[in-house]
Amino acid sequence: MADLLKGQVLSFDGDPFAGGGPRLDEAVVIDRGRVLAVGAFDAMSRAHPTARVTDYGGDLISAGFIDAHVHYPQTAIIASWGKRLIDWLNTYTFPEEMRFADPAYAGDVAGRYMDLALAHGTTSMCSYATIHPGSVDAFFHAARTRGLRAWTGKTCMDRNAPEGLRDTAQSAYDDSKALLQKWHGVDRLSYVITPRFSPTSTPEQLQALGALWHENPACLMQTHLSEQTDEIAWVRALFPQSRDYLDTYEAQGLLREGAVYGHAIHLTPRERARLEEAGAALVHCPTSNTFIGSGLFDMGLATRLRVGLATDTGGGSSFSMLRTMAAAYEVAQLRGQALHPSQLWWLATCGSARALRAEGQVGNIAPGLEADLVVVNLKSTPAIEQATRRAEDLWEQVFPTIMLGDDRAIRAVWIGGTCR
Ligand code: GUN
Ligand code: ZN
Repeated sequence: MADLLKGQVLSFDGDPFAGGGPRLDEAVVIDRGRVLAVGAFDAMSRAHPTARVTDYGGDLISAGFIDAHVHYPQTAIIASWGKRLIDWLNTYTFPEEMRFADPAYAGDVAGRYMDLALAHGTTSMCSYATIHPGSVDAFFHAARTRGLRAWTGKTCMDRNAPEGLRDTAQSAYDDSKALLQKWHGVDRLSYVITPRFSPTSTPEQLQALGALWHENPACLMQTHLSEQTDEIAWVRALFPQSRDYLDTYEAQGLLREGAVYGHAIHLTPRERARLEEAGAALVHCPTSNTFIGSGLFDMGLATRLRVGLATDTGGGSSFSMLRTMAAAYEVAQLRGQALHPSQLWWLATCGSARALRAEGQVGNIAPGLEADLVVVNLKSTPAIEQATRRAEDLWEQVFPTIMLGDDRAIRAVWIGGTCR
């Protein structure tokens, strides 16, 4: 039976960084997991008289949030105090990721992470796993049982990581290939080729993963790029023959459309030009960039490149894409740019979908797209409610939830046309 959801239905006709606009409708009809129609309530109910109606009143109905860069294995170490990137990895991250050698632990954390993400309105995520193939299995099992569209890959490292968290160029290739063949395209799951970052991969490992990507061009490839200045100096020392950080990937076949680079804060003019030319995607992780002290992403890049938004859990300090939009707003303010709420919302939905090359499936509300929706209460706390009282348009209603909202604002989540 079709469902008709009534509320303030927000979708996008185009990219607000390129002059495109949001649109507001009164109802969305979903059937067999997909959006069937969007429009005025009377017209929708006349056209679909047998649909089951759920009235969400003044709540906002949007495409579910898409977290384009997350480390689900870092769920338990979110909000760990006092370190910058390399120390933070060595002190908190690597010891925790070591525990994923135990498939039962991996399964426990994967389930916990997914439930936290859903409670925050995140309906799709692109995660890093750990070095252990079982951590990929755990993530995909958890996503599959919840019906989610989700991405992950074994995080490959063959140097500068502790014993127990290192593979080799050959085993990274073999394990990644086996996992890709096992999972890519199963239900709504996609495998992502995942070298962690250049400091923890030899050129031989990057080359092996470049070869695997060449053999499987439909997959995404994700890694980290130019997050902290100390990291960039380390890359320069490790790869003296490379022109810059991006070149360490480019030289091994890890730069083209379908490449998804997390952070990308401290880019040289050559790197910006090559990223644009290659059609790569960047993922902005603002709560992480402030929490670990990395720097301020240049959102001016969103007019030239595909940019997604992400929590970067657990370098990021929140599971919430609302908190993440707030941080993106603040980071842009520090660079002299006031992002419009429509741009923030777009980044967390369409923008992330486009960065993951999934804009034909998720990230918006339009006929034919998969019905992954979030219903957001725009008055979820007394502080937010009082801030909306004088709102004169949709965005004045929404912005207080962006800046002050969290999981309490999430009224409902629909996954593949089913209310969870
Ligand atoms: N760079 C390499 N690995 C990581 C990670 O796990 N988190 C963050 N924020 N940056 C990284
Ligand atoms: Zn990351």
